[in-house]
Amino acid sequence: MRDRALPSNRYGHFSEDGREYLVTDPRAPRPWSNVVANPRAGLAVSHTGSGFSWIDNSQLATITRWQQDLVSDRSGKFLYVRDADSGAAWSLSPSPTWAPLERYACRHGLGYTVFESAHEGVSAEWTLFVDAEEAAEIWIVSVRNDSPHPKRLELTAALEWCMGISPSPRREFARLFLETWPDESRRAVFARSHMWDVPSARWGHWNTSFPYVSAFAASDAVSDMQGDKAELLGRYGVWSAPAGLGEPRWRARFGRHEDAVAALRVPMALPAGGSARTGFVLATGASPEEAAALLARFATAAAADAAIERVRAGWLDRLAAHRIETPDASVDVLVNDWVRYQAISARLWGRCGYYQQSGAFGFRDQLQDSQVWLTIDPAKTRTQIALHASHQFADGSAYHWWHPLTEQGLVTKMTDDRLWLPFVAASYLRETRDLSILDDPAPFLDAGPAPLAEHVLRAFRVSFGKTSPRGIPIIGAGDWNDGLSAMGLEGRGESFWLGHFLAGLLGEWSGIWERAGRPELSREFAGRRETLAAAVNAHGWDGAWYLRGTLDDGTPLGSSRDRVGRIFLNAQTWAILSDTAPPDRAAACMRAVREHLVSGAGALLLAPAFDRPAPEIGYITRYAPGLRENGGVYTHAAVWAIAAAAKARDGELVGRLLDAMNPSTKDPEAYWAEPYVLPGNVDGPDSPHGGRGGWTWYTGSAAWLHRIVAEWVLGVRPEWDGLRFDPCLPPGWSSARMRRPFRGAVCEIEIERGGRPGLEVDGKVIEGNLLAPPEKGRTVRVAVRIS
Ligand code: GLC
Repeated sequence: MRDRALPSNRYGHFSEDGREYLVTDPRAPRPWSNVVANPRAGLAVSHTGSGFSWIDNSQLATITRWQQDLVSDRSGKFLYVRDADSGAAWSLSPSPTWAPLERYACRHGLGYTVFESAHEGVSAEWTLFVDAEEAAEIWIVSVRNDSPHPKRLELTAALEWCMGISPSPRREFARLFLETWPDESRRAVFARSHMWDVPSARWGHWNTSFPYVSAFAASDAVSDMQGDKAELLGRYGVWSAPAGLGEPRWRARFGRHEDAVAALRVPMALPAGGSARTGFVLATGASPEEAAALLARFATAAAADAAIERVRAGWLDRLAAHRIETPDASVDVLVNDWVRYQAISARLWGRCGYYQQSGAFGFRDQLQDSQVWLTIDPAKTRTQIALHASHQFADGSAYHWWHPLTEQGLVTKMTDDRLWLPFVAASYLRETRDLSILDDPAPFLDAGPAPLAEHVLRAFRVSFGKTSPRGIPIIGAGDWNDGLSAMGLEGRGESFWLGHFLAGLLGEWSGIWERAGRPELSREFAGRRETLAAAVNAHGWDGAWYLRGTLDDGTPLGSSRDRVGRIFLNAQTWAILSDTAPPDRAAACMRAVREHLVSGAGALLLAPAFDRPAPEIGYITRYAPGLRENGGVYTHAAVWAIAAAAKARDGELVGRLLDAMNPSTKDPEAYWAEPYVLPGNVDGPDSPHGGRGGWTWYTGSAAWLHRIVAEWVLGVRPEWDGLRFDPCLPPGWSSARMRRPFRGAVCEIEIERGGRPGLEVDGKVIEGNLLAPPEKGRTVRVAVRIS
């Protein structure tokens, strides 16, 4: 194996084991954040210390107020220290005071963030995390007096209550309903809101209470508590210098008539060289009693220590069963740890990032994300499939997204959402071979329960009914690409991408129906696949690549005749992934991808970018050129290009695209975004800031990158009859390893370049490259030799 050193840059570096990222210079070009969540609750926190907390829905049930301002990044929950003798006050993270800390590090880890600081003779460590299961955000604070004199310090922990929807469009209105009250015995400020800005079927609008109560408590004695922002900050005061910090006593105000905050002041006397530890808990429950019970559970040092140990161990354990080792250590830490953490913590649990507070389940989005569980805990993928099946209508169509808590969903004319249900169900079946999933019952939104097989069948049937006269799926209000939102509004525009995608699914399900004992369906699907693939090839070929689609008036999109939007990535990659392209066309469209779409940050979604709004195509054309879907690297699609390149056996391109998308090796001055997780997009060459990353954390590329590196680059793919070994390593990689569970057994895999290509299992040569499922409980050693 080659150099195992992990990349670093002037703002930060990975820890030695790669499981922490240490930001050491607070002037990183953008907030570098962490999304720390359990299945119910969580917090987003940036390297400056700004951020927010939520329960159950990070948009509709935000606990603390935050302003989405990525330039200033000075809003959130803060922890101040004041030296009572000198009067100096600063925060234990750069924001909001931006004191010139003598020492600073923000350590983002899997499930926690730690701020280390030293200033004015005081060094401190502030750890934030959320319990593994409960809605309890826990702060552990240790402080040391590094000076030769005793110090009288005051710690003030402060936050602003939101207790509702974020961002609040009408702050002055929303705050009228907030109520705070102190609980001296618990050293806590409680908060609730008597109005939740969501429509209620039963009570109408503006006529329900926020269904949670929160409490913010100190684990040690407090000298003061405050519930009013004006008292804490002072008139026209700012968070960077709250006037209250310098006041010997606070005039405490609580109730329903203030501007609701929670601030807790904890005095701390430290002898020279002395240290102390304290903590805070932000707990949320359905009632004051529930919140109080959580405070009681977590308010001690021992409980906080046990809780963070559980969190750490939980992440290690969760990610342990499936690991890869390649010659590129940065690929390993990203694929093994960070992108899976990203997919689980931010996408599936928190459903938010610093750039997007969503809270909703996207029908296609979280289904795809749930692929992250396939190898390590497929039961969780199965649960996600059932959840999405229950958000499908009896006619087979589905919500585009829906909000947990309110169950409010969006009905659209998008044409692909429903088809991700059979897509992910097929992936589950390939991994587990457990056909019983087809019997899993789930209700329709507008009808009683039916087995998953029926949900899948209806998703297909409604799609069969929505094709153009020449047999191409219509695009409606968009397909995978949300921004192609207008090209098919009249019901005639077509999507060739969807044609490829659907044809791939039809082939796969033809096989599944056969195995499920439904040969007539199997035959029907095989026939439909042939017809569809033929139609796509008859009408969707532009000469050197596949068209993306057609507009309602028949104008082709993604054609060499166009000035902008001449070639689209997905129509090429999925032609290969779905085996709809005959060999000569597959080769041609990979050539076209290489020639027109490969950039230094990965494959572009389309090129050249649209440079003026085209209402007849959709809102994709309204983004500035090179931004996001409009000619940027849209990473969710760009990772598919890695799979397509591997399938086309183009190892050079695989290596090039993998390197290009690796956030850890970028120059932060140009790239801006976090080096340890994937961004949603990187500006393309038509932007003046080509190579600049944006919209980090909340992206479907995370789960996909893991899957594609495992299945296409290392080439270890589950198939119905076993595990296929078909690596396509970048030319610079001479070997790789993987440990992977497979249907109750464990495979220890070593891939080696050189020698006679073939497969050895436990020292025995076997024919072909497919390993039949080993006996449950066994560990088998697989040696894969490639040329
Ligand atoms: C956003 C959507 C996702 C869509 C993608 C491409 O990420 O959440 O569903 O596929 O954009 O438009």
